[in-house]
Amino acid sequence: MATKSIAKKPARSTAEKTAEVMPNLQQYPHETQRYGEIVKLPNGLSEKVCKESVALLNQCLADTITLRDMYKKHHWQVVGPTFNQLHLMYDQHFLAQVELVDILAERIQLLGGIAIAMAADVAETTRIARPPRGREPAAVQIKRLAEAHELIIIEARDAAEKVDETGDSGTNDVFVSNILRTNELQVWFLTEHLVASSPVKS
Ligand SMILES: [Fe+2]
Repeated sequence: MATKSIAKKPARSTAEKTAEVMPNLQQYPHETQRYGEIVKLPNGLSEKVCKESVALLNQCLADTITLRDMYKKHHWQVVGPTFNQLHLMYDQHFLAQVELVDILAERIQLLGGIAIAMAADVAETTRIARPPRGREPAAVQIKRLAEAHELIIIEARDAAEKVDETGDSGTNDVFVSNILRTNELQVWFLTEHLVASSPVKS
């Protein structure tokens, strides 16, 4: 019985072989989707509803990224008799906020939107007051964090009601189960350090 022979590829030069695996860095920046635009996905929600939810989620995302970073700033800069306790608690809260950032950003993307991401864009968007670059007393750190939490809590409750009215139950769940619950809990842990008998004073 005759055996079939497999045709061999013609020999190629080293330059031809290299070209196949060489990364092409001749790429020019251009946006394939503008910030604020929606790519409609088959999720049973209208483009208008997705757009409204994405706008609310992006505001909350910018504020959550800011709060997350404020926790790290205070984690590094805290001093005083409660250093260890606050240093550790700030980092625990930071890690929970990292998770919230990802939940918010991915909710935005799955609604067909674009999540705000870079520091400069976040700084332009957040409503949380900018802290100084320098160190502040622990009590002031806590007050500043508590105010940021409250801003996000009020925003999340308001956003939860709005998306409930438009029928976006998934986003409502993110605002209530993730954002609201986590921030309320962290306010409790945080503000207990400011009771009258606390060694934390400004
Ligand atoms: Fe650390």
